[in-house]
Amino acid sequence: MENYELFDKNTTAFIYGSQQKAAQRMLDFDYLCKREIPSVAGFITPTGSGYFKLFWGTKEISIPRYLSVKEAIAAKPKADVMVNFASERSCAESTIEALETDNIRTIVMIAEGVPQRDVREIAKIAKDKGKWIIGPATVGGLKPGCFKIGNAAGTIQNIRDTKLYRPGSVGFVSVSGGLSNEGYNIVSRNTDGIYEGYAVGGDVYPATTLLDHLLRYEQNPKIKMMVALGEVGGKAEYQIVQAIKEKKITKPLVMWVTGTCADMLPGGVQFGHAGAKADSKDDTAKAKNAALRAAGVIVPDSFEDYDQKIKETYDKLKAAGKIDEIVEPTPPNVPMDYAQAVAEGFVRKPTNFISTICDETGEIHNYCGVPIDQVIKENYGIGGVLGLLWFKKKLPQYARDFIELVIQIVADHGPAVSGAHNTIVTARAGKNLIESIVSGIVTIGPRFGGAVNGAANHFSWGLQNKLAPREFIDTMKKKNVRIQGIGHRIHSIDNPDERCEIMMNFAKEHFPKHPLLDYALSVQDVTTMKKGTLILNVDGTIGVLFVDLLKSLHYNDEEIKEMIDMGFFNAFFIIGRTMGFMGHYFDQKRLKTPLYRHPWDDILYDVPDKPEEVK
Ligand code: ACO
Ligand code: LMR
Repeated sequence: MENYELFDKNTTAFIYGSQQKAAQRMLDFDYLCKREIPSVAGFITPTGSGYFKLFWGTKEISIPRYLSVKEAIAAKPKADVMVNFASERSCAESTIEALETDNIRTIVMIAEGVPQRDVREIAKIAKDKGKWIIGPATVGGLKPGCFKIGNAAGTIQNIRDTKLYRPGSVGFVSVSGGLSNEGYNIVSRNTDGIYEGYAVGGDVYPATTLLDHLLRYEQNPKIKMMVALGEVGGKAEYQIVQAIKEKKITKPLVMWVTGTCADMLPGGVQFGHAGAKADSKDDTAKAKNAALRAAGVIVPDSFEDYDQKIKETYDKLKAAGKIDEIVEPTPPNVPMDYAQAVAEGFVRKPTNFISTICDETGEIHNYCGVPIDQVIKENYGIGGVLGLLWFKKKLPQYARDFIELVIQIVADHGPAVSGAHNTIVTARAGKNLIESIVSGIVTIGPRFGGAVNGAANHFSWGLQNKLAPREFIDTMKKKNVRIQGIGHRIHSIDNPDERCEIMMNFAKEHFPKHPLLDYALSVQDVTTMKKGTLILNVDGTIGVLFVDLLKSLHYNDEEIKEMIDMGFFNAFFIIGRTMGFMGHYFDQKRLKTPLYRHPWDDILYDVPDKPEEVK
């Protein structure tokens, strides 16, 4: 690559900062230009390493993240550009760091407000080392067909419309980034297009000036004419005048200095850019346009005929045979981002998930249509929330109260029962909260705590088939099936389980009716005649009472059957008891209990002297 060129088709850059959108625009440009390799070599993100996922055409690629300039350069020594998106506070420091390396040749400083003193120092180091700085306070620029800096040149459609995917014969430079897009448009409509284009940035002292770039263009034989846009304020345009006088610039230059309207306003008006303020008569756009015109620059009468002057200049060169013919390439399609395509109504897709209980996409998420602030304001409580999320209903108060009563009642039953025991053993084996409670939860099943569903099923079946209690018990016995919800290890008819009493009393007081409870109690009358422990246990009581509750809430048999089939009823025991498991876990951790080992004297060792031999 010649010295006067900043980029070619193989240029690769580091992006300083997490500017994934800007990097994606660079990759889209690359793809449009049919570059063989992506122009983004990596990100320098001191806050984290890893990678960012971006698109290369339709495919996703991962672009590495490095913690420092040093690390990035060590990993990708061929990258010679850094597009620095660091803020005005740290931009100078990271720019100097990159300038000091052997690898980085061009640095773009995007930030506005970088201290002038720092920029002057940076400009000096760059000059001494023969390196290039673009900015600060710039959007950057591009070299069509080769490389684009960050967000320069706007949307991919704009780049396509202005044919920035292939080089033309015009070298363009402006102060303003916004006007550079307009400049690319004007040049593309009136010539064979841009060869290179940059915005030097709107600061009082940009690190490289309009002239610096025009001098590069002058040296480049592929650039046949130059187009520039100056701005009110500063004296950069007089450097161009001087260079023309010294014959350092000989190629046709069409230039306009914007801000002529400043004359109509009271003196010293500051336009958008830090440098866009005329401090003396010479700084005005009018004076600068006049000086340029006098030096031989093609200066239009106003911005209105800027395009006309560009066209005339180009047409003259073309007529003189100085412009090479361009074989127009066909740029490929750059895929549109899915979100944009949806927003513009181009695509739709079937969803893979459906949720009918909770929507998180609004300003505040809702439980079955009730925003959570309303859930709190209207005191839904845990019972009401479960009503919304499990039943998809706004439950009456007695139903909410019953759910909360059940959850409180089953929350724990001491360390001896299967689930708590497992949780404790697991916690003592050094496992974490989730692992420990999961080991407790997996014990919930047909023998322990998980008989709620089965009880709802068995008793509903008996009642629906109008089986008398004894008939029901005999039928189950014949099938060799234990009636779920009957029997307890400790409690018996003489040692009743208070928890069952509390739930039954609540139902008797608040439920409009409780036929399944009555049926289950009549079954209990028979089973306890055989053995005192064959009571309607806590699981059984919950199971039958939830069926009665659902009936009171106008669920029909079919709907209840469907809920039984999906295991709905066990959920009340699981949610309550998980609180207890967690309590046991924290208890053990607080106590710093050691690894549990079961005592030998609690194990019957009934091992034969020798194994049976199989011949
Ligand atoms: N239905 C019919 N007969 C039963 C039932 C039952 N649910 N439970 C026990 N029996 C009978 C047994 O067949 C046995 O009869 P047998 O003496 O003629 O052989 C006798 O009662 C004693 O049985 P055990 O298994 O010794 O009773 P144990 O006290 O060990 O069992 C258990 C307690 C596991 C709860 C048992 O009653 C059972 O399986 N019940 C059904 C499941 C259930 O409801 N579990 C939830 C319990 S509550 C909770 O975990 C929170
Ligand atoms: C429980 O709630 O865990 C108990 O009913 C089980 C038991 O065996 O005591």
